[in-house]
Amino acid sequence: MSGFGRESTTDEVLAGHDLNGLTVFVTGGNSGLGQETGRAMAARGAHVVLMGRDAAKLAEAAGAIRAGQPDAQIETITGDLGALASLAACGAEARARFARIDLLINNAGVMACPFEHTADGFERQFGTNHLGHFALTAHLWPLIVAGSAKRIVNLSSRAHHMADVDLDDPNFERRAYDPWVSYGQAKTANVLFSVELERRYGPSGIHAYAVHPGGIETNLGRHLTDAMRAALMARVTKSDSGFAWKTIPQGAATSCWAATAPELAGAGGVYCEDCHVAAVDNQSSGGGVRAYALDPARAARLWQISEELTGISYPV
Ligand SMILES: NC(=O)c1ccc[n+]([C@@H]2O[C@H](COP(=O)([O-])OP(=O)(O)OC[C@H]3O[C@@H](n4cnc5c(N)ncnc54)[C@H](OP(=O)(O)O)[C@@H]3O)[C@@H](O)[C@H]2O)c1
Repeated sequence: MSGFGRESTTDEVLAGHDLNGLTVFVTGGNSGLGQETGRAMAARGAHVVLMGRDAAKLAEAAGAIRAGQPDAQIETITGDLGALASLAACGAEARARFARIDLLINNAGVMACPFEHTADGFERQFGTNHLGHFALTAHLWPLIVAGSAKRIVNLSSRAHHMADVDLDDPNFERRAYDPWVSYGQAKTANVLFSVELERRYGPSGIHAYAVHPGGIETNLGRHLTDAMRAALMARVTKSDSGFAWKTIPQGAATSCWAATAPELAGAGGVYCEDCHVAAVDNQSSGGGVRAYALDPARAARLWQISEELTGISYPV
């Protein structure tokens, strides 16, 4: 038991931690949970790098953090998770500018967008939420190896309950597109990525954690029509779900907990929610992780497919 729960905030979770000397790299750092994660980590002394695709939005987010903490060590870097060339350039720039990354928070995401494709022709949600982070993490790998904390946090979602990854057709080339099946698939992929990262690199001290932050009102719902929003609320507030909105500091707390909790040392490959490790649950709509998201064989197969699609290999 962590001593924290669904109402815990970033500042409460990090209160006992001195993050001086650690570099934290947060994707999607210009908005919502990513910005709050960066703010809270900087407040504990971390050197924080906010990554996003829009330099002006990043500057605004960094400015907002500095406004509350004038001595915050905040830097920004641009990269588009929907374009492999941009991620290669972002990785090269990061390797030139920074000596290490201690905590990588793969937080950026897009939800339930119309059927669109990334610059490389991947379906946008699978391409951005999973393949983009798969590629970026590889480009940042030497910095993670050089870090001391060596934790990777991948933002997933309870929406992973909606769909497993279709390993035969992840880009919806031979099936009808559904924005929620796509989001669910991508969020399952975020868990499977954590499972295979842990299997491959846990023995060398690099650990990966998947996180469901809760339900938080951020910019994530930008693609929802009124009808989609109503259907989503009907689904998440089903009688057994116990749903309640979180504030942004409560929502980002589980990312901060997974990145720093001493009780998680050496114990990655897990799915966390409400600041604890979730149990496998194949029925409940109110929590838990589906068994298919932790399946090691499917995680290995997704890794292989991700290498093939991106043309990127990790160190053996
Ligand atoms: N909010 C929730 O209720 C909830 C629930 C479950 C899981 N999550 C997960 O939590 C994470 C953070 O979401 P949030 O709620 O904080 O949403 P948000 O406010 O919309 O933030 C998402 C961030 O991702 C960035 N992003 C999107 N596409 C990108 C791309 N191609 N390249 C680089 N950055 C990109 C956005 O940048 P722009 O501003 O440039 O678009 C933004 O900074 C997501 O992974 C989401 O799936 C959230």
